[in-house]
Amino acid sequence: MAEGYGALVLAAGKGTRMHSEKPKVLHEILGEPMLWYLFRTLRPLFGDRVWTVVGHKAEMLEQAFPEQTGTFVLQAEQLGTGHALQQAWQALDTAGLSHVLVVNGDTPLVSADALEHFMERTREEGAALSFISLTLEGPGAFGRVLRRGGQPEGRVEAIIEAKDYDPAKHGPEPREINAGIYCLDMKAVEPLLGKLTNGNKSGEYYITDLIDLVVSAGLTVAAVNCGSDPALLGVNSPAELVRAEEYLRAEIVTDWLARHVIIRQAESVRIGPRVSLTPGAEITGPCELYGATDVQAGARLLSHTWVLSSSIGRDALIKPFSHLEKAQVGPECQVGPYARLRPGAVLETDARVGNFVEVKNSVLGPGVKAGHLSYLGDAEVGAQTNIGAGTITCNYDGKNKHKTRIGKEAFIGSNTALVAPVDVGDKALVGAGSVITQDVPESSLSIARSRQKNLVHRVKS
Ligand code: UD1
Ligand code: CA
Repeated sequence: MAEGYGALVLAAGKGTRMHSEKPKVLHEILGEPMLWYLFRTLRPLFGDRVWTVVGHKAEMLEQAFPEQTGTFVLQAEQLGTGHALQQAWQALDTAGLSHVLVVNGDTPLVSADALEHFMERTREEGAALSFISLTLEGPGAFGRVLRRGGQPEGRVEAIIEAKDYDPAKHGPEPREINAGIYCLDMKAVEPLLGKLTNGNKSGEYYITDLIDLVVSAGLTVAAVNCGSDPALLGVNSPAELVRAEEYLRAEIVTDWLARHVIIRQAESVRIGPRVSLTPGAEITGPCELYGATDVQAGARLLSHTWVLSSSIGRDALIKPFSHLEKAQVGPECQVGPYARLRPGAVLETDARVGNFVEVKNSVLGPGVKAGHLSYLGDAEVGAQTNIGAGTITCNYDGKNKHKTRIGKEAFIGSNTALVAPVDVGDKALVGAGSVITQDVPESSLSIARSRQKNLVHRVKS
């Protein structure tokens, strides 16, 4: 981006229609906050010249974007988008910007291409102020673009907010609306900034009133029309959030299909923007992949799997209804159906974890099998060991977590409780139903249960 250009994100509003304690811009689309998308787009264009106006629950935004907090500007009272710009002006001016791109924080899906096209058009037109406009079926709750004579080619004269639009005064409702993305020549706009007033239906200082002020000052305003591009529609309500998410979901899935990932039932597959897939991976919907998930070639994810920030190795198979969070699944592993891998679960090559097995913060060595109904927490299991059905690592004593170490080629009988801290040696065998409270030496057989007694119960007839 040209020297002297920077960006300002307006994100101080509450988002009343979301009915949530969370600032609107923290609401998520495919697992990432709306604001994350804007930062992702703006950083490559403007580097560290990106400022953000925060206000409502500012501390939540600071927590969500710690790397960005140095460039947050506080708008303690949210008196409108024009007021937000006024609050940030000094920071932009001190940074020596000649032009600032102002973006509503609730327009998360705008692309770098669209912004570059917009800035270029602004330069060509030599505008003191420009904004992106859209032409929709109806203007809805958006600001209406007023042109001279009500003609689509007429010069832009003002933006009138939905609440303030009066057909008697402004003429028939136009279909052209303001997308909430502006480019301002700082020198030209500075003298006009203080002229904003709040004499409108909302009692707010509108950034959109600058249009009329710039026109009245005899300077050029340009509206760069981007048709009805759905990526440019602001998100104000749950319905609009879900619509934006669905739009992006379809785009991402189409993109991965084009990059040779097999996606069956594609309409029910949800893939987050940070997920990385390898050509030849296979996914069957419904399926959800979020965060920094990585899936290698030949890996198959069957239906109803939910995956967050996990890696899935080459040729691994994730069977239906499995739930993976911050887990690593090695090559050729098999997981599920109905398995749960929690943070720190590491499955090395060809390990198998079957139905109703939960693994947390544990390493299962190559070829380990835990087929049924188990809990493995804070454990290390050596190569080729078999974990019988119903095995539980009792890792928590009510206060602290303890480790269970099981060697390689061991065999843990069904329904064993391993009371940690405890070590089971290589090639050891533990009898079914044991409660193991002491270490088991390597190659030994350990049985820790009461001996069976057969007593006379009924006299045989
Ligand atoms: C705004 C525009 C409208 C445009 C629409 C596009 C104004 C007055 N109207 O309306 O013309 O069609 O966007 O989506 O600007 N914000 C602050 N501080 C405040 C108020 C808002 O930072 O005091 C932030 C919000 O967090 C939000 C953005 O500014 O991210 C836009 O505010 P919002 O209330 O959503 O404006 P709209 O009514 O959608
Ligand atoms: Ca909005």
